[in-house]
Amino acid sequence: MPLTVIECDYISPIDDKSTHVVRDGALVYDASSAGGARLLWVGKRRDLDHVFKFHRLKRIDRRQFVACPGLFDLHFHWVQDDVRLMPKDSLLKWLEQYTWPYEQRFSKPSYTQKRARRFKRELHQVGTLGGFVYGSLHAESVTEALKQFVGDFVVGNVLMTMNSPQYLCQTSSQALKIVKALAKKYTHHYAVTPRFAPTVHPEVMRESARIARLHDCFIQTHLSENTDEIRFVLELFRAMKGFEKVKSYTDIYHQLGLLGPKTIFGHCLHLSAGEWQLLKRTQSVIAHCPTSNASVKDNGLGSGLFSLEKAERYKIRWALASDIGGGPYLSMFDVMNSFVQQHQKAKVKQATYSMALNRATLESAKIMGLEHRVGALSAGLEANFLLLKKTDTQLLTLNRFFASIKERLQHDRASSQELVSETWYQGRRIFSSSSKTTGQ
Ligand code: GUN
Ligand code: FE
Repeated sequence: MPLTVIECDYISPIDDKSTHVVRDGALVYDASSAGGARLLWVGKRRDLDHVFKFHRLKRIDRRQFVACPGLFDLHFHWVQDDVRLMPKDSLLKWLEQYTWPYEQRFSKPSYTQKRARRFKRELHQVGTLGGFVYGSLHAESVTEALKQFVGDFVVGNVLMTMNSPQYLCQTSSQALKIVKALAKKYTHHYAVTPRFAPTVHPEVMRESARIARLHDCFIQTHLSENTDEIRFVLELFRAMKGFEKVKSYTDIYHQLGLLGPKTIFGHCLHLSAGEWQLLKRTQSVIAHCPTSNASVKDNGLGSGLFSLEKAERYKIRWALASDIGGGPYLSMFDVMNSFVQQHQKAKVKQATYSMALNRATLESAKIMGLEHRVGALSAGLEANFLLLKKTDTQLLTLNRFFASIKERLQHDRASSQELVSETWYQGRRIFSSSSKTTGQ
């Protein structure tokens, strides 16, 4: 069997400050290898004949395209696809009025199955091949997502046992029964997911965190997204026995055993110094969701801007996320673009495209513990990549690549869903915009 060569330009993350940007490049892999094709070599096209003197090569001409590694989304709700563009003037109102009634629909397994199929196609279309996913409170929202989504996804059912509408509320024992069964079955592909502190009894959070550790699962929840939410949480918990003296929102989760290197907190916008220290000390992770936190005018929830400076100062592990449907678009290019625009506007100079790419690929893979397999385009890693059409034939630079995306999104942001021409997973094409089908 010949080796497969994708001839294209490519970009691949190195770290926050640097990116490989290669014009006239080539990605080489053995498509016949069992267990998923890994890249054998990446480099300049002109070196192919020399390096592969003794191999037959099957060349696939994508010279009009730029490749980048499969993208990761560290926090999104796959069951909120239809509320992405609903009115969002207040987080708690948006949840009660639109989001929760919508999530209730996933109580019907046939509906869940159908929607998972559709969401899988959306993921392929935007090139997201991994990340942390919130389902509804129903177990099928986890099993279906894990069965259907292609890539490295960790999924959890949201826990809601109090302060929730009757139609979307479980008893503590119902919730824990599901957690136990799914944690045991899916281990590190499962995330124990208390929706957020106000909707989960403390003893359910404590017990589910224990189960997560027992089965090596992840934990994910929301933390400090909105000032009204924080006030509500503190009032609620300080009135509960055992929590009278809690210092902060983070402290509540800390007392319940939720913090740690396998815990991902969404948002974290209004943290005190003590809370930053707690996250640092426990090596907890933050999912930064810039499009969800953006202004209502920009279809976000208007929650504020994440402090990148503090995250850096406290050496917090963090990566980017869309937070669908708090965020309006699933494309991580929309998220990367918004990340740079918002932080640059706030004069946060370190927020570059290099950092954006790193935090939507390699850094996310590290957080998932998968950097030995995915997250970049380099020899030894899986042949997972996206191809974007080149808009300009001159010298490829990272800033130019993103500038053309920015320009396009300024004109029509919804077209972020159409930026990717092809998505390839383990050496197999799973999406092509020209055929609109899955499969090679
Ligand atoms: N806080 C609790 N639940 C949610 C949710 O579904 N989305 C967002 N953005 N914040 C939340
Ligand atoms: Fe969220």
